[in-house]
Amino acid sequence: MRTQVGIIGAGPAGLMLAHLLHRSGIESVVIESRSRDYVEQRIRAGVLEQGTVDLLNETGVGERMQRQGLVHAGIDLRFGGRSRRIAFDELTGKHVVVYGQHEVVKDLIAARVRDGAQMFFDVTGTAVADLESDRPVVRFRDANGEPVELVCDFIAGCDGFHGICRPAIPEGVLSVYDRIYPFAWLGILAESKPVQDELIYANHERGFTLISLRSPTITRMYLQCDPEENIDEWPDERIWDEIRARLAGEDAPDLVPGPVIQKGVTAMRSYVVEPMQYGKLFLAGDSAHIVPPTGAKGMNLAIADVKVLAEAFDAFYGRGDSGRLAAYSETCLRRIWKTQRFSWWMTSMLHRFEGGAFDHRVQLAELDYVTTSRAASTTLAENYVGLPFE
Ligand code: APR
Ligand code: PHB
Repeated sequence: MRTQVGIIGAGPAGLMLAHLLHRSGIESVVIESRSRDYVEQRIRAGVLEQGTVDLLNETGVGERMQRQGLVHAGIDLRFGGRSRRIAFDELTGKHVVVYGQHEVVKDLIAARVRDGAQMFFDVTGTAVADLESDRPVVRFRDANGEPVELVCDFIAGCDGFHGICRPAIPEGVLSVYDRIYPFAWLGILAESKPVQDELIYANHERGFTLISLRSPTITRMYLQCDPEENIDEWPDERIWDEIRARLAGEDAPDLVPGPVIQKGVTAMRSYVVEPMQYGKLFLAGDSAHIVPPTGAKGMNLAIADVKVLAEAFDAFYGRGDSGRLAAYSETCLRRIWKTQRFSWWMTSMLHRFEGGAFDHRVQLAELDYVTTSRAASTTLAENYVGLPFE
């Protein structure tokens, strides 16, 4: 088989790239090791920056998001037993939209099917080769176990943090920047009426908690926990009690426990590789960088990368200009590092660390400052709604 851009991974990065390339008349093939059903059901984060929302709308895949997504014009920061609001709209004129990542994935797959695109789900044994040549190849076995060789002009490694593309780059080429946090998030999805319309990020001596939502009847919540936490030790009742304890104080939100329909532990890590390119292979999204989820940036970063990459391919195929492809990594990394900084900062300000009482006092002072200084609130707000695309 032959294509212009071979795309590995059908997450937000791979699917959005395929969609943008199609709109520029560039042919691509997407291959994915999981089933279509699996990627459409996989529960992940769900906050879309204004720029992500605009891109989905402008490229014709935002229709369901416009109907079902929830516009959020602010968040609450809760500390010292009370909540204070950061008003995004007032501070920046922008907002975010709460819409599950798997819903974005469903909409993008539907668009690919509608446009007659080539997608292979349930593939095995994916490998890439000849990355330095003019004919890099992707090899895999399709859903029937038949071997396929896909010869490309370029390969996009959109295969997430545990994919095969980043490790295919020879030793010594990449610099790795990494921070592993000494805690994780226990996340739940529950059939319970959300306690309020907007998200609550709460700093508490017992640990951080985040109250989010997916719809008027589905609540999404997270609790700071140990990275080795055994989920079997967390029956529903214990989860509700712990969240209630971490929200205690003035105007404590009125939790209405309901059936927990999904539970999981997410590790917290900041990670970047530089550069995001080797020969004809371009990395995008989680394959090149991950952020702790506190700033809700993972999916937005993936979309921002592929916007830059699609424009670079468009310049190459449309005008023979390879300068933007050459600058891809540098262009993306400028914004990625600012977003890394924001995610690290939100994580540091809101979680319980082992530093003891002094560190906790400093966190409370910072939260007090961030929620009372217009300059500091604006800093948080403009990062949360999303920095401009490069
Ligand atoms: N062959 C084919 N597909 C693969 C392979 C492989 N060897 N390895 C991984 N994949 C697929 C995964 O199954 C997954 O569907 O690549 C896809 C990568 O998708 P994501 O992990 O969603 O990564 P990305 O598209 O970069 O989106 C980043 O996802 O993890 C969240 O928080 C993160 O919101 C962020 C977003
Ligand atoms: C979510 O709703 O899943 C969510 C919201 C905000 C975050 C992280 C996750 O910062």
